[in-house]
Amino acid sequence: MISKLHLITYGCQMNEYDSERVAGLLKAQQYELTDRADDADLILLNTCAIRERAEDKVYSQLGALKHLKRSRPHVIIGVMGCMAQLQQGKIQERAPYVDLVFGSPAIARVGELVARVKAGRRPLLETGEAPLVKITAKPESADPLRAFVTVMEGCEKHCTFCVVPTTRGRERSHAPEVICDEIRALAASGCREVTLLGQTVNAYGRDLTPATDLAELLERVNAIDGIERIRFTTSNPYNLTTRLIRAIRDVPKVVEYLHLPVQSGSDRVLERMNRGYTQARYLELIAELKETVPEIALGTDIIVGFPGETDEDFARTVAVVEQVRYDNVFAFRYSRRPGTPAAGMPDQVPDQVKAARNTEILAAAGRVAAERSARLRGRVMDVLVDGPSRRNPADASGRTRCNRVVNFDAGGASLRGAVLPVRITEALPHSLRGELAGVGQRGVS
Ligand code: 5AD
Repeated sequence: MISKLHLITYGCQMNEYDSERVAGLLKAQQYELTDRADDADLILLNTCAIRERAEDKVYSQLGALKHLKRSRPHVIIGVMGCMAQLQQGKIQERAPYVDLVFGSPAIARVGELVARVKAGRRPLLETGEAPLVKITAKPESADPLRAFVTVMEGCEKHCTFCVVPTTRGRERSHAPEVICDEIRALAASGCREVTLLGQTVNAYGRDLTPATDLAELLERVNAIDGIERIRFTTSNPYNLTTRLIRAIRDVPKVVEYLHLPVQSGSDRVLERMNRGYTQARYLELIAELKETVPEIALGTDIIVGFPGETDEDFARTVAVVEQVRYDNVFAFRYSRRPGTPAAGMPDQVPDQVKAARNTEILAAAGRVAAERSARLRGRVMDVLVDGPSRRNPADASGRTRCNRVVNFDAGGASLRGAVLPVRITEALPHSLRGELAGVGQRGVS
């Protein structure tokens, strides 16, 4: 008999990837996906623990599910992912109607875990370590044009603010052949763009025997027919090598975009964060990137209000944003995470100060990004088309290699999967507008 699975995913791209694998694995147990919680036999929350807000969202969702469980007592409710790993027994204390709690290492065994809950009708907690396995099961609903592919798990950087070393464990890379097999299969089913995922993706391969690196993996993925574009995220400045920067320039399918979280522009704060670089070193890397790949677009993550951050420290971060000229800035208010060194540091910054700094950094980032967009006007850029735009079906919508959304008049044609030259005519706050450029008019993109 077919049962129904409702999956709610929070957090990062790796969680999205994991959720797809879970749906794929449970398909083998006769579970099919449903969009509706009130229709489901099994509800799984794939959680995030990076900031307290992410956890609050899960607890409020669990509150809503409590009522559902009352009216549909047979429903199995499971909490998986980083918050499950971090909080363990606490989830079942706060929400005793949760049947199943399991961390990322147990994902490969989700079928067995669900079967055990069903058979025993007893709550189950599974947060032990397990060997890394590559799961390639996928639900039919997965978007074939772009795909995430996890290439490594875990992180050993031990930034003092971060829970990931606790929730995702040590750095473990998947073998290049296994990754390439997965991408070949994706390409065969229509995938054109892959994003290689890892918490410190540019540390890829160090733990393998023989050791390898991300630059080499990029070369191998580049050789796969059908794939047009390769992205990778997230890179850590500490591990960024000249070799990788050259691979961005030299490996044709690798896009000219790099997400390189700076976190702070102040050396004092960077030191207390245990980031392993100074502002000067970070800016040196940016200079090398821009020199080697002049068209590169950059993104970053910034934490405001890290313990002890003064106005002067913060001003240095704003200065970095203005100097680097990012296309994309993600700013976060520091959130105290249990068990991390920074949670116990003195001089925690008050919420109002964090909020004000957050507003200020976003304003600076907005000014820089608007200017970066404006310079694209008049350019002809390659756009990988996703299909008709949601707002206006006569338009097609797609992305540039630097990951900007572009809408253009396609006369209602789908064009999905095509890579077309589009002349940018307008830079809007969140997207670009363009028109199809005829063959032969193609300039630099
Ligand atoms: N508080 C706020 N932001 C955080 N991040 C990681 N840990 C915390 C925390 N405790 C941010 C970092 C990271 C991004 C994924 O989340 O900027 O790069």
